[in-house]
Amino acid sequence: MSVLFAVSEVFPWVKTGGLADVACYLPMALNESGIDVRIVMPAYRSILSQIHEYRVCAETSLPEAGIRYRILQVTLPDSQVPVYLVDIPELYDRPGGPYTDSSGADWPDNALRYAQFCRVIVAMALNQTGLHWRPDLLQCNDWHTGLAPALLKAGGSRLPVVFTIHNLAYQGIFPYELFRSLRLPAGFWSPDALEFYGNMSFIKGGLVYADRLITVSPRYAEEITTPEYGCGMDGLLSNRREQLTGILNGVDYRYWDPRNDTHIWHHYWIDSLEKRRLNKLELQEELGLNRDPEAIILAHISRLTGQKGTDLILFGLADLLPDNDLQLVVLGTGESGFETALLTAASARAGQMSVCLYFDEGLAHRIQASADLLLMPSRFEPCGLTQLYALRYGCIPVVCATGGLADTITDVDDQSLKDGTATGFQFQEPATSSLVTAVRRALAMRRGDARAWQRLVTSAMQKDFSWQNSARGYARLFADLISATPYRPVGRLP
Ligand code: ADP
Ligand code: GLC
Repeated sequence: MSVLFAVSEVFPWVKTGGLADVACYLPMALNESGIDVRIVMPAYRSILSQIHEYRVCAETSLPEAGIRYRILQVTLPDSQVPVYLVDIPELYDRPGGPYTDSSGADWPDNALRYAQFCRVIVAMALNQTGLHWRPDLLQCNDWHTGLAPALLKAGGSRLPVVFTIHNLAYQGIFPYELFRSLRLPAGFWSPDALEFYGNMSFIKGGLVYADRLITVSPRYAEEITTPEYGCGMDGLLSNRREQLTGILNGVDYRYWDPRNDTHIWHHYWIDSLEKRRLNKLELQEELGLNRDPEAIILAHISRLTGQKGTDLILFGLADLLPDNDLQLVVLGTGESGFETALLTAASARAGQMSVCLYFDEGLAHRIQASADLLLMPSRFEPCGLTQLYALRYGCIPVVCATGGLADTITDVDDQSLKDGTATGFQFQEPATSSLVTAVRRALAMRRGDARAWQRLVTSAMQKDFSWQNSARGYARLFADLISATPYRPVGRLP
């Protein structure tokens, strides 16, 4: 089986969130299960500056779309997975992030950047780029790749296409004028296609035209068919419920393992949990917190957005940090209002609260290896990887029971403690008071019953969310779809 995996960010080169992790570890797991999976992504400047060797395997054009491009081939680090970088310098060779400039503003030509990316994806899927490789299936991810299923199907191809929704809140919405300027087929301007309340929606291309839809947890697959979580797409998704499957994301434990993590100071496992205290002292030193091995550290490692409930933490600070032996570490970037408020709060709590407003992969690992509680009061969470990493590091998640958080964290209660299934603390409503109550439950146990706490940490660390399970789900779905689609290699780029 061969699969073209199209995505806009891939760890370790370009990462703004969990999508990049999935785009690295899922193809690796699929590759290890014998699938010929190849990634295609834009050749951003930030990647080219990290890669020193690549093979130019195509240099061609799509004259009708006004694109001249090269395809550069590299290999995903520590794997056998080929990665094709779509090199269009005027679109991708610039400073800043994949979606925004250095000041955080969206690139004004994002619609064009990802429309052209999608056109190249389609040409590759149809073996029209000179690579002499034809995938059996195209796997697209999130709005940046949403036009590819639409273009492919509109061109008459029956190549099986799967679209994974990592986050329905990001839809790639652009005004009609931009739609016109992209010179897409006129038929796409319809509520049954890309039109969405008078605008153009990239993600609808995936939601409408892909043969199968996946999202990253079973609970979120249910949720997005309701008005509360459907972001306006609940009607469409309810109609496609039969073709929508929830498959949990996983963890690559070669990279996230406190026994051999190169980012952390002291390695440990369930028989050496006291080393977490040494890591804690190091973290306090690194972040300028009071040095206190007895302190209980709460952590928030996150995009700082409404989705993640950063405001619930901000409003609850007085109740979350009532005593000096409680400390809070925030690592994240996001909405400027949250960033400013966090900085102000931290300056009033020197030594007790540290706020790091940047992206630092190593620090994320070090916090997981040192903190006691991970706060994820998300209003919605398609899957969430941070809580899965926390489990492996024995940093106990306190989560709002939504989406993947509800699916992956088992709340502490008498029964779950007794049968050893408890892994964290859940609360039902995304409200500050609920978060504070859940944190108090956690603190009561942490302070009052050391043996029960150790059992909880031990069972959290032993949970297995490895990618192999999730990859099996993807592989089965791919195989079923391919065998159900008698495919003749026809189709052209409309
Ligand atoms: P999302 O994709 O919605 O942001 P996930 O929990 O799925 O949430 O994935 C977040 C990923 O991004 C995790 O790997 C987490 O460690 C990482 N992360 C988030 N913010 C930062 C940051 N500021 N520095 C380093 N890593 C971060
Ligand atoms: C999105 C979601 C997150 C998920 C990640 C990877 O960014 O917000 O819940 O884990 O994608 O699928």
